[in-house]
Amino acid sequence: MEGHMRRIAVVGLGYVGLPLALAFSKQGHEVIGIDLDDQKLQMLKEGRSYIRDIPDEQVKESMEKQEFSATRDIRRLREADVIIICVPTPLNLDEEPDLTYLMQAAANIRDHLRRGQIIVLESSTYPGTTREVLKPMLEQSGLIVGKDIFLGYSPERVDPGNRSYPLEVIPKVVSGVTDRCASAVEDVYRTVFQTVVRISSTDAAEMTKLLENTYRFVNISFINEMARLCTGMGIDIWEVIEAARSKPFGFSAFYPSPGAGGHCIPVDPLYLQWRSKQFGISSSFIAVSREINHSMPVYIIQQIKDALSLGALSGVKILIVGVTFKPNIDDIRESSSIEMIKRLQQEGAIVSYYDPYVHEITVQGQKLTGVRMNEDESSRYDYDCAIIAVNHDGLPLKQIMDQVPLVYDTRNALKGISGAAKVIRLGGGVQDSEEDSSL
Ligand SMILES: NC(=O)c1ccc[n+]([C@@H]2O[C@H](COP(=O)([O-])OP(=O)(O)OC[C@H]3O[C@@H](n4cnc5c(N)ncnc54)[C@H](O)[C@@H]3O)[C@@H](O)[C@H]2O)c1
Repeated sequence: MEGHMRRIAVVGLGYVGLPLALAFSKQGHEVIGIDLDDQKLQMLKEGRSYIRDIPDEQVKESMEKQEFSATRDIRRLREADVIIICVPTPLNLDEEPDLTYLMQAAANIRDHLRRGQIIVLESSTYPGTTREVLKPMLEQSGLIVGKDIFLGYSPERVDPGNRSYPLEVIPKVVSGVTDRCASAVEDVYRTVFQTVVRISSTDAAEMTKLLENTYRFVNISFINEMARLCTGMGIDIWEVIEAARSKPFGFSAFYPSPGAGGHCIPVDPLYLQWRSKQFGISSSFIAVSREINHSMPVYIIQQIKDALSLGALSGVKILIVGVTFKPNIDDIRESSSIEMIKRLQQEGAIVSYYDPYVHEITVQGQKLTGVRMNEDESSRYDYDCAIIAVNHDGLPLKQIMDQVPLVYDTRNALKGISGAAKVIRLGGGVQDSEEDSSL
């Protein structure tokens, strides 16, 4: 580790900002966390974490050692040597970049800037944001980027729920608007990250994040198309993927699912699509991937109707198992389960959900509380169909297989589990599980 200790302000203490703030404080930097969400701030002050991967003790320890403080007082930005921006970058209703949070954070920073500060954007965004949006905004202060203040971009790669890769071991791409800016950013990040990858421009660093996430979006959609194609041809995609994986080079396995969700994968490619349109360039891959992704809930519901030989689902009792966008996390943003629940309700189905990580959700303005399972082996599950949407660890799959007559398995979660249910597997054929669910 190189460099000296600094005072670091992290603006936005969410899935990205909180782990980053704690990583910097762990290395001895003093960290001022700034957020506008009073509930989060209160929890942090009480030494409690609202992010599953971060234990309360970690927050408590940093707070007690006074290496980390959390506040909504933006005047404290002036105290910082380094300001790292981790605010949301969602889409607006037209599915275009919504930079409202970023603009607000940038305006606050501008109003409290002082000479010598280093500002780094970590939020995912389209190439050009740091240079064309952030730089002019900060320079309204009269301070010049590259001379008086230093500005860079470093994409965030944290993978919530993935314990194999602690933040510090994930290589960190860094960049600056000028060479001096890039060097300043690099010095700061070298104090925390084992590997720092410096690249030539903030545009290239912004694009790096979009390339990574568009790669995932395209491949997730591609494998879902292959799954549908295999089902149509009576071939099991899961078996095919396992066989293809035996090739030691040139193939990376992606698996079928009800669709890509989360704040990043279905969102970031649309930032890129929007930006490329400004250059008069179209991206067919992104457009097709988006189309396939959106169609997955519809496809799954149609397969259920076919299996039940029903034209409509009015009064059919359906249990959705898992409402998060991926396993073993509690994040439901852009989750395809929520979309499935909405569509099933519109069709008149009576929908319940089970998710050990999520107590309550809101669908079309209505609150829905998750059902409890597992606690009582003898509890009866009175459903016509269950959809395994997310394969969290420890799901009561055997109980579901024994008690629900039709189970739609989108994740091959039932591999090796037998029961009375008829099973439809996304990318497989319809089969009776007593015969074989382990293909
Ligand atoms: N979640 C991920 O796994 C992940 C991974 C890589 C990149 N990203 C990107 O990182 C960025 C942040 O994502 P996130 O998942 O941490 O979001 P989040 O919603 O979990 O957290 C953002 C936080 O910023 C706060 N905030 C909003 N406006 C603010 C302002 N003006 N000043 C101070 N705080 C403000 C919010 O209250 C919230 O606590 C996004 O651009 C996202 O695309 C996320």
